[in-house]
Amino acid sequence: DEARAEAKSAFSFKEVEAGVDQTHHVAEGYDADVLLRWGDPLFSDAADFDPQNLTAAAQAKQFGYNNDYVGFIPLDGSAEHGLLVVNHEYTNPHLMFPGIVKVVEKDGKKALEVAALTKDQVDIEMAAHGGTVVEIRKDGGKWQVVKDGKLNRRITATTEMEFTGPAAGHDRLKTNADPTGTKVIGTVNNCAGGVTPWGTYILAEENIHGYFSGELPADHKEAANYKRMGIPEGAYEWAAHYDRFDLAKEPNEANRFGWIVEVDVNDPASMPKKRTAVGRFKHEGAESIVAKDGHVVFYLGDDERFDYVYKFVTAGTFNPDDRAANMNLLDNGTLYVAKFAQDGSMEWLPLVHGQGPLTAANGFESQADVLIATRLAADLLGATKMDRPEDIQPNGVNGKVYVLLTNNTKREANQADAANPRAENAFGHIIEIAEDGGDFAAVKGKWEVLLKCGDPSVAEVGATFSTATSASGWFGMPDNCAIDSIGRLWVATDGQGPKATGRTDGLWAVDTEGEARATSKLFFRVPVGAELCGPLFTPNDETAFVAVQHPGDGGDDWEGFGRPSYYEDLSTRWPDFRDDTPVRPSVVAITKQGGGKIGV
Ligand code: FEO
Ligand code: CA
Ligand code: CA
Ligand code: CA
Repeated sequence: DEARAEAKSAFSFKEVEAGVDQTHHVAEGYDADVLLRWGDPLFSDAADFDPQNLTAAAQAKQFGYNNDYVGFIPLDGSAEHGLLVVNHEYTNPHLMFPGIVKVVEKDGKKALEVAALTKDQVDIEMAAHGGTVVEIRKDGGKWQVVKDGKLNRRITATTEMEFTGPAAGHDRLKTNADPTGTKVIGTVNNCAGGVTPWGTYILAEENIHGYFSGELPADHKEAANYKRMGIPEGAYEWAAHYDRFDLAKEPNEANRFGWIVEVDVNDPASMPKKRTAVGRFKHEGAESIVAKDGHVVFYLGDDERFDYVYKFVTAGTFNPDDRAANMNLLDNGTLYVAKFAQDGSMEWLPLVHGQGPLTAANGFESQADVLIATRLAADLLGATKMDRPEDIQPNGVNGKVYVLLTNNTKREANQADAANPRAENAFGHIIEIAEDGGDFAAVKGKWEVLLKCGDPSVAEVGATFSTATSASGWFGMPDNCAIDSIGRLWVATDGQGPKATGRTDGLWAVDTEGEARATSKLFFRVPVGAELCGPLFTPNDETAFVAVQHPGDGGDDWEGFGRPSYYEDLSTRWPDFRDDTPVRPSVVAITKQGGGKIGV
C-alpha cells in the first residue's frame, strides 16, 4: 500500500509543494537556472534585447517567443556539449508590445482591450515564431550559450522551405507566389516536435487555423477540408498585411501549413523540408524510435477534441553508420490512425489511397488528397475520437508508448468509451500502449489507461493516482512528456488553472512499474500564468531542460491573481523582475547541486 508504493518508486527526490506565485520552484537540492530567454542574442552580431525598441531584424537573430518543444542533439557524442533545438509556438502581443493594451470594463468585469497591430509588430511576431538551433556547453557545472556557434540558426515564419513527399507539387498546394506547389514561406505554431535517430530536428505545425482570415470563394473545393481544420479562425492579424493569409486572395495557402517540418541542423543554410508523407493535421509532435527491423516509427498526436492518434512507419530502414542515407526516410512510409477497441486491443489503420474507403468516389483521387485532408480520410476509416492527443512518447526501455490526452470537457456521457472513459473530461488521462510482439512498427497492439488525472480527493473527478500520491503530487492536463535514459516517465502540464486547482503547471515524475505504478510527485513548478513545455533530459540524465511558456499570461481562471498585463495589475515579471522588462518565456536548465543524475 502507501508506504510500500513510496518505497518502490523509481524516483528519489523531496517533492515540491504545489502552489501559485510569481516564480518557479524546483525540488530541494536542485538548481533551476534560466538558460535562454525570449530576445536573448543567439549570434555574436545580434542585438541585445531591447523591449522598448523591438524590431523584426533584431528578433530574427534572437531567441524567439513561447518556447515549447526542446530537443538536444549531442556534438561529438557529448552529453555536456550539443545543439539545443527549441520551438517557438506562438506570440502573445499583449505581453510583448508596450502600449497596445488598455484595461477596460466589460460586463462589469475588467477586460483587456488590445490595439490593432502595425505591420512592424506583425513582422516581429513572424520573426518570433518558428525555431532556434543553438550550441550550448556545460562549463563548471553550468550550461552556457555559445553565441558564435557555427550551427546556430533561427527558423521563422519567413524562412523558405520546400515540400517533399507524395503531396509536393500537387495543385492543391499551388499559389500565386508558388505556381510549382513546392516552395513555402515559413512555419507557424510549432508546438512539440522531435529529434530523429539520425540527428535532425522536427517541428510540428499545430494550430495553424489562427493565422488565416477572410473567406474562401463560394463553393470552393477546399471548403470541407478547411472546415474540418477550423480554418479560418483569424486570431492573428497577419492577413491585414500579407495577402497569403487571406483565404479570399490565396485560397490554397492554408493547405501549405499543418505539416511536419524537418531541419538538417548540421547545415545552417539547408532548406527545411515539409514532409507531406506524414500527413496534414494539427500536429502536436513527432517523437520517434527505431523498431526491431530498423524501420523508424514516429508517434503523432492531432491536438483537438475528438481527433486522432497517428503513427508513421518509414518504408526504409535506419542506417546508424550512414547519416546521409537516412535523410529522406520521412518521404516514404505508411501513415496509420489508431482505433482503440473496448476490450483493450487496438489496430493501426493505414491511410493509403485506394484502400478501403479512400477512393476517388469519396473525394480522394490520390495519396496527395489523403495526406492534404488527413482528418477527413481518418474519419472515413472509423478511427477513435480522442480527448485531445498531445505528446506521444515511445519508451525504448520498457517497450511501451505513452499517449497524453490533455482534456475534453465537450465529451458527453453517451460519447464516453473505454479509451476516453470520462464525460466532461476536465483533467485528461494517459494511455499506455504495448505494440504486438514489442514491435513499434506493429499494426496491432494492446492498451490500458495508465492514469486518469485530476484531484483524487474529489470523488466525482474519478482520478486514479496511487494512494501514495501526495496532495502536491496529482496533476491535470498532461501535455508534454519525456522518458529519461532509464525509462522513467516525466509529465509536464498545460492549463491547471490556479484559481480552480490552487496550483500552477509543472513537471511531475510518474511511476509506471510495479507497486508504485500511477504514483506521481511534483518536481518543478512554473510562475503564475505559465504552462510547462519541453521537458527533455540530456543522455546522461544529469540535466533536465524545461520550457516555461507564456509566463504571466492570463485567463479568467486566474483573474484573482491580477490581470497579467505587462502594464497594469501585473502578476509576475518572471524571469528578470525588472520594471522596464516584460515577462519572457524561457528555457530553464535543472541540475543536481554537486552533480549527478536527476531524481536518483
Ligand atoms: Fe500546442 Fe497541443 O499544445
Ligand atoms: Ca502541447
Ligand atoms: Ca516529448
Ligand atoms: Ca500546450
